[in-house]
Amino acid sequence: MELRSSGLWLLFLCALGCVTAEEDKKVISTIGSTAELSCIYTPEKKFILNKLRVFWQIADGSKPCSVVHTFNSGHENQSEQCADFRNRTRLFQDKLENGIFSLLLLNVSLRDEHTYRCIVQKKDVVFRVIHNADVALKVAANNSLPVLSGPIRIHPNIGEEVTLSCNYSQGYPKPNIYWINRTDNSSLHPSSLKIIQDNDGTYSVFSTLKIEANSDIKIGCIIENELLQQNLTILYSENVTNSNSTRSNLLDLNEPGAQAGGVLAIAIVLAGLAVLTCWLWKRKFRHRRSYADVQQNEDGAQQNSK
Ligand SMILES: *[C@@H]1O[C@H](CO)[C@@H](O)[C@H](O)[C@H]1NC(C)=O
Ligand SMILES: *[C@@H]1O[C@H](CO)[C@@H](O)[C@H](O)[C@H]1NC(C)=O
Ligand SMILES: *[C@@H]1O[C@H](CO)[C@@H](O)[C@H](O)[C@H]1NC(C)=O
Ligand SMILES: *[C@@H]1O[C@H](CO)[C@@H](O)[C@H](O)[C@H]1NC(C)=O
Ligand SMILES: *[C@@H]1O[C@H](CO)[C@@H](O)[C@H](O)[C@H]1NC(C)=O
Ligand SMILES: *[C@@H]1O[C@H](CO)[C@@H](O)[C@H](O)[C@H]1NC(C)=O
Ligand SMILES: *[C@@H]1O[C@H](CO)[C@@H](O)[C@H](O)[C@H]1NC(C)=O
Ligand SMILES: *[C@@H]1O[C@H](CO)[C@@H](O)[C@H](O)[C@H]1NC(C)=O
Ligand SMILES: *[C@@H]1O[C@H](CO)[C@@H](O)[C@H](O)[C@H]1NC(C)=O
Ligand SMILES: *[C@@H]1O[C@H](CO)[C@@H](O)[C@H](O)[C@H]1NC(C)=O
Repeated sequence: MELRSSGLWLLFLCALGCVTAEEDKKVISTIGSTAELSCIYTPEKKFILNKLRVFWQIADGSKPCSVVHTFNSGHENQSEQCADFRNRTRLFQDKLENGIFSLLLLNVSLRDEHTYRCIVQKKDVVFRVIHNADVALKVAANNSLPVLSGPIRIHPNIGEEVTLSCNYSQGYPKPNIYWINRTDNSSLHPSSLKIIQDNDGTYSVFSTLKIEANSDIKIGCIIENELLQQNLTILYSENVTNSNSTRSNLLDLNEPGAQAGGVLAIAIVLAGLAVLTCWLWKRKFRHRRSYADVQQNEDGAQQNSK
């Protein structure tokens, strides 16, 4: 009984050890940033650089080219470096003699997601491997914020159905999306959800939520990046109104009220024009009539003179 439990205890410790070892070898970096791939071997006394070789390469063999960075006998030699890594790798030159062989990888992109191996050789008589280490680079993308929109500047009426949309772009790895009611923090089911992978490997999210406006609306859209353990939250809040008249008080250029105002203004102008036309026409008619009178008179005169 005691043996068994101590055996379990050992197993438990081992499991813990394995997990920490795994975590030590994983580096998470966001797109565009600089990743530090760690490789440290503390020497008894300082290394002599021209008796040292440091090779950084891709360990998972998924690419035809695997040379990432080479330091050979006191010099960097990048003649065989893969084109992908050109100008993007640095060693800590002044720390090499102290056994810090870590590599800086600049401007990380999704294509850099590999397991990297560091191999260190030291020359006594011949070069011998004294240390090697693997580091898995995980790349995450979180360059954008979610965009949440709903009815613009119109307070919905009580009972009215309201549609909100939440979009997010260029996330990596595949994000999770949650809609929550921020009044009580309960979760809500999306009415539609589409997650698509773009050509660059990143993911875009399009989601909508339909709710009935029974009370003031306070809704959150959460985009979760599990790799970064990060939640991006965006809120939407809008007050409902239970009177239809308040809506027309909100005179704004983009709102129906303003449009009604515009129609009224045009109607007034048209009415004015009509009155003016009428008046002009009347004036002309009166002219004509007086002209006709004169003519008649003239005719009469002619008749008289005849
Ligand atoms: C770099 O390494 C290549 C072979 O890997 C070798 O031909 C070349 O001479 C080296 N260049 C220098 C400057 O050491
Ligand atoms: C690397 O940098 C050098 C000088 O800084 C530049 O001449 C060269 O074009 C760059 N190569 C690449 C592939 O960016
Ligand atoms: C970073 O890499 C991307 C391609 O992965 C490139 O378009 C961009 O110009 C690079 N930025 C810098 C500062 O080198
Ligand atoms: C992306 O993640 C990094 C690291 O966790 C963080 O510093 C940065 O603010 C995040 N970017 C956005 C837009 O949230
Ligand atoms: C989300 O994307 C859809 C489809 O492209 C679009 O109709 C909608 O206006 C977008 N919503 C936001 C808040 O950008
Ligand atoms: C949000 O929670 C409040 C309080 O529980 C509730 O009155 C309201 O109807 C909820 N809103 C939605 C859209 O579910
Ligand atoms: C809902 O969650 C937010 C953030 O997690 C917190 O600040 C707020 O107090 C919570 N509200 C309720 C009613 O639980
Ligand atoms: C993000 O929010 C969701 C939903 O509220 C929650 O389940 C998850 O644990 C949160 N993740 C982090 C990293 O805070
Ligand atoms: C909703 O009403 C509250 C007070 O009644 C006010 O503080 C808040 O700004 C209003 N929100 C919106 C979006 O109009
Ligand atoms: C608001 O007006 C609509 C019709 O335009 C009507 O159906 C609704 O009952 C009205 N709501 C209130 C609260 O008066």
